This record gives sequence, structure tokens and C-alpha cells, in this order.
Amino acid sequence: MTPTAKSNEAAARTSALAARMTYPGGSVALPLLRGSEGELGVDIQKLRSATGMITMDPGYANTGSCRSAITFIDGEKGILRYRGYPIEELAAKSSFLEVAWLLIHGELPERTELAEFTAEIKRHTMLHENFRQFYAALPKDAHPMPVAAAAIGALATFYQQPDKDRGVHDAVIRLVAKMPTIAAWSYKHSLGQPLLYPRNDLDYCSNFLHMMFATPCEAYPVDPVMAQALDLLLILHADHEQNCSTSTVRMVGSSQANLFASISAGISALWGPLHGGANQAVIQMLERIAAEDGSAAQFVARAKNRNDTARLMGFGHRVYKNHDPRARILKETCARVLQRAGASSELFEIAVQLEEIALHDEYFIERRLYPNVDFYSGIIYMALGIPVNMFTVLFALGRLPGWIAQWLEMREDPDFRIYRPRQIYTGAPLRHYAPPAPGA
Ligand code: SDX
Repeated sequence: MTPTAKSNEAAARTSALAARMTYPGGSVALPLLRGSEGELGVDIQKLRSATGMITMDPGYANTGSCRSAITFIDGEKGILRYRGYPIEELAAKSSFLEVAWLLIHGELPERTELAEFTAEIKRHTMLHENFRQFYAALPKDAHPMPVAAAAIGALATFYQQPDKDRGVHDAVIRLVAKMPTIAAWSYKHSLGQPLLYPRNDLDYCSNFLHMMFATPCEAYPVDPVMAQALDLLLILHADHEQNCSTSTVRMVGSSQANLFASISAGISALWGPLHGGANQAVIQMLERIAAEDGSAAQFVARAKNRNDTARLMGFGHRVYKNHDPRARILKETCARVLQRAGASSELFEIAVQLEEIALHDEYFIERRLYPNVDFYSGIIYMALGIPVNMFTVLFALGRLPGWIAQWLEMREDPDFRIYRPRQIYTGAPLRHYAPPAPGA
């Protein structure tokens, strides 16, 4: 389904360069890999067999886990491209399902391909009726992220051969098609309202908003501007190379666990407040500043204070040491959506103040901390009427095609093998068991 990794392998192995590592007892030449954008990496696959040593890199901040042709990020320049296309162009001209096809297949779809893909998605939006009992068993205040992780994992009980031949194709379609229904049903369940069937006469985002806000007693006419804003949000979240949740999807998939199990694990990883959960944490931070009538400057001072647990959520990034291009696009979208929704701009104004102060503050400048994708996204979700605890599941909805594309690419990689990092042991030396002394 995706260009074979052979093209990545060729692109990443043309370098004839090598690094030489000298260590107590000898030295070893390590080949350098050069990516298609010229970035270099040291290939340490032979390091342990040649030297008996491993590398250490907590958080994998300096470690590449794979070759990938899906997404390119230049954190220094604030560049993000899906399959070579700048995020700014896709955000302005494409649609979420077109971007999903691009990420999964490697090329933009022909008009007929997109039409068939869209039609196939529409034919799989319903969940098995047994899922109504699944939701009924959950507490009303269940957070939508564990609900989504459990429901996606449960798809493997209904479709029990997701990895065989056409099974992978069908699993991809079912995931993209059913995720909006799974997300909307978790919201409806929390309200005690009926779980609405999807409407296949609506486009992908309008159908989601319909399932979220319509009831059997009252239709919900979807505002096309709001549906388009949601489509943009999903495009901006669609992939982001080897982030925490994507690496989790690859890790689980590397054991040859099926696609549903791998995506379910990725959803759980995304839930963390340092990752996808940050969009919910940003709104809670902005609401706290607004409620305490505290100034943005006071909060920034707290975020800089090592003894204070406050963090400027939605700021900072492992890779971007410049503006996250997604944050720029979202900031521009906020004003348009707030105005259309007639919603209060108080939180947006506080966010803009926080950004303005932080970007001129030595602490943030020195650490190259800029707004990331989560800083403004929650403001738009709120204007769409999405409840705060649903923000991260919307992030998962957007990231789904990226997770799928990365999982497929891993399975087709000629270097495919189970992920199994090593460690430096720091525990007790050899000792022998002795039963506790009597009376001890
Ligand atoms: C996403 O990886 C991806 O691509 C993720 C993502 C995607 O699309 O998949 O882009 C989505 O997860 C965006 C990030 C959302 N998380 C947040 O907004 C939470 C707040 N940000 C941070 O916790 C932090 O910036 C991380 C987790 C995003 C990055 O952490 P790193 O790379 O491990 O950096 P770090 O924590 O070591 O920070 C470096 C320094 C530290 O100060 P010193 O110890 O050097 O004095 O910067 C400080 C940190 O204390 N710092 C912050 C800060 N972020 C980092 N200080 C105040 N506020 C912040 N937000």
C-alpha cells in the first residue's frame, strides 16, 4: 500500500562517509546514512558486535529508530512536510481524507481514487450493534481516551484476521471510518443521550459533528465553516514522524501485533499531558489564569520557576526549536472561527499575551521554546462546541492516518525486526538466596 522502504533504503544508504569512534581498547568505523534532505545519521547496527558496547540516549532524543519516507520535519527551520508537500499548502488546499490517502499511499490520490476511498469510508462508519452494550457498561464520566483505546482494541474481536491480505486494507478503512463514531458515542454516552447512527450523506467532519450534537428530537445543521475548521485541525494533526505515540504504534506493531492493537496502544500513549493531552492542559491553564484574574506575566514567571510545577503547556517541543508551523496556522484560524461562532475570545487573548511575553523572555529564548500544535488547537475545539475532555481524542482522530502509514511502512521495511532496546544495568551484583533468619 505504500512505496516500499527500498527507496528509503537507497536514499538513506548512498553516503560513503563514515564516523570513527575511538574507545578504550580500539576504534571502529561507523557508516553514515544520508537522508533525502541531506541529514546525516551514524549507523550503529554493528556497534555492539564490534565493541561489546551499546549507546545510551534517554528519551531517544538523538536516536533514529527507522528510515521513513512519510513526514519530514526540520525543527531548526520550523518545516513540516507530508510526503514532501509543505503543511501550509495541504492546510490551505487539501482535505483530511485526501491527506490520509497521501500519507498511507505516498502520493496524492487521483480524483477517482479519492472518490472510491471516500465512498468506502462511508460504507464502514457504523459500529457493530454490540458496541451499544460496550458503551452502556462504561461509567458516565469515563474519559474518552481510554474509551477510544478500548473500543479500537475491541475491533480486533469483531474483525479477527486484520492482518491477512485484504484484511489490512479493510482494517485501515474500518479504523478511519469508525473512529469518528467511537469518539462521538463516548460523548453521547457521557450525556446519557442516544448513540446516533452516522449519516453517510454528510462529509467526514460534518458527519462527526452531527453525531456529536444532533439528537433524535432535534437535527443539528452543521455550519460548513465549522466543518472546514475541523477538517483543517485533522490535517494539521495527521502525522509528525517518530513522536511518542507513533513510536508506540511501531513498537507494538513490531511484535506483529495487529493494526487494531497497535493503534489502541498509540491512543494510550497520546493521552499523556506531555504529548497529546497537552491541548486539554492548555485550556485548563488558560481557564485558571482567567478565573484567578492572574496576569499572563505572573503565570509565565511561575512556569520559569524550577520550584513551581507550573509549565507553560502547549509550549516547547523535542524537535521544533523554532515556531511549530501548525501553531502559526492554528493561531490564524482561531480569530476566524471565534468570530463565526460568536464565541468569547478571552482565552485566545490570554494565549496571545502568553506567547508575546514568552517569546521575549530570556528563559524561553535560551531554551528555544515556542508554541506547539497544542497551544491554540483547544481554543478552536471549544469554539466548535467540543468539550475539553474530548480534545485529545480529536488529536487521535487526526493522527490516525499517520499512525496507520507508519505501521504499514514499518511492516514493509526490509530491516523490519521487533523493537527491543538494550540497557545499562545499575542493580545489585550477583548474590544468593537465603531465607529470613528465624524471628527476623
Ligand atoms: C506534542 O514529538 C512530537 O512530535 C509531539 C507532537 C506531535 O505532533 O506528535 O508535536 C505533539 O506532543 C507537542 C508537545 C505537547 N506538550 C506540551 O506542550 C507540554 C509542555 N511542553 C513540555 O513538557 C516539553 O517542552 C516537551 C515535553 C514538549 C519536550 O520536552 P523535552 O524535549 O524533553 O524538553 P525538556 O523537558 O528537557 O525541556 C528543556 C528545558 C527544561 O528546562 P531546563 O531543565 O533545561 O532548565 O525547557 C524547559 C524544561 O524545564 N521547558 C519548559 C517547557 N518545556 C520545556 N519550561 C516551561 N514550560 C514549558 N512548556
